[in-house]
Amino acid sequence: MKKIGVALLGLGTVGGGTYEILTKNREYFIKTQGIDVEVMHVLERNTKRAEELGVPLGIVSTDIENVLNNDDIKIVAEFFGGIEPARTFLLKALEKGKSIVTANKELYSKHWHEFEAVAAKTGAGLYFEASCVGGVPIIRTIEEGMQGNRIEELKGIINGTTNFILSSMDEEGASYSDALKRAQVLGYAEFDPTADVEGFDAAYKLSILSSLAYHKRIPVDKIYREGISKIQIEDLNTAKDLGYTLKLLAISKNKGDSLEARVSPVFVPSSHPLAAVKGSFNAVYLKGDSVGDIMLYGRGAGALPTGSAIVSDILYAARQSEHRRYPFMLKDEDVNISNDFTSKYYIRVAALDEEGTLGKIANVFGKRNINIDVVLQKQPRSRENVPIIFVTGKAKESLMQKAVSEIKQLSGVREVVSLIRVEE
Ligand code: HSE
Repeated sequence: MKKIGVALLGLGTVGGGTYEILTKNREYFIKTQGIDVEVMHVLERNTKRAEELGVPLGIVSTDIENVLNNDDIKIVAEFFGGIEPARTFLLKALEKGKSIVTANKELYSKHWHEFEAVAAKTGAGLYFEASCVGGVPIIRTIEEGMQGNRIEELKGIINGTTNFILSSMDEEGASYSDALKRAQVLGYAEFDPTADVEGFDAAYKLSILSSLAYHKRIPVDKIYREGISKIQIEDLNTAKDLGYTLKLLAISKNKGDSLEARVSPVFVPSSHPLAAVKGSFNAVYLKGDSVGDIMLYGRGAGALPTGSAIVSDILYAARQSEHRRYPFMLKDEDVNISNDFTSKYYIRVAALDEEGTLGKIANVFGKRNINIDVVLQKQPRSRENVPIIFVTGKAKESLMQKAVSEIKQLSGVREVVSLIRVEE
């Protein structure tokens, strides 16, 4: 039977969940996988936390050398989060020929090449299933379930915090700030929620997933990113009446000679399966040229769901005679990323109560051949704020931005309050 020594760097939420799974299922893995995974060292300064989890204190320390110098440790799983010291410790582990397992999407999306270069030199493996969509096995699906396809599109909800906030706004009529506070109290949002609510977390994941899906690197900074912090409940309510639900969507498309990649709030029809993905759940569509659409759904975060993906990577790594490293990522391809994507748009204008304003706005769309699907003028809030809502047909982003700039200049328009994309 194969015996594999593992080190855990950190015993936070996911580190603790991983330890729990590895210990409770150790015998089960021996029977079903023929692999005995032994946690040989844990890096953690909080010994109380280690004791609570039942980790023998003899294998707990704060010194990475205890991991690096133990030749029986073949796999190092990292749970620190952030860039340092995680980056340095993982690079040192790779230099020693130890494979790494991580859920750290920021680190992985930004330093993938660096890890790859060292791993290729020493023969170690890179495993990061847990970095994207928590417990949902999306990376293995792309790499080993869909390799018979050219993947054409990836679209989904890949951040649970924002989905929890938007679901609260939609279902309870809560304002953005109240929904955020509730998410923080319940532990779904961090004290500093920026990474989630401004779309950074989703962009890290989209970079990793799209690079794998299209075999071309999509750097995080090339991804168009817009968060949910400016979303107003008024737009959710109006759109609900029009049959739409708001989601923070990550979308990428392979257009052959170019790629598109964006994270932004998007209205989807309330009958769309993504509209039914509520709370902290995640769901992703992948479109292959042979299989068509498949959809993956599940928990995108949490101790045991993310721990499940980490343990899956540990067992997978333990089975490899030649480790996985995704070397195509090192090719210096000239990837053309164009974010002039095509979409339908929801636009809310605050107009002055003056005759002819609606016509002037409609004219701006008309002369650019932007079709209007829906127009709705609501009761004036005041003489300076008459809400007029449009849902347009499909238009290029650049064309829509030009139209919006022109609408802002119209004499009867006080403000273009909201511009939100609409997916069918
Ligand atoms: N903050 C992330 C989320 C956790 O809300 O989805 C998992 O990456």
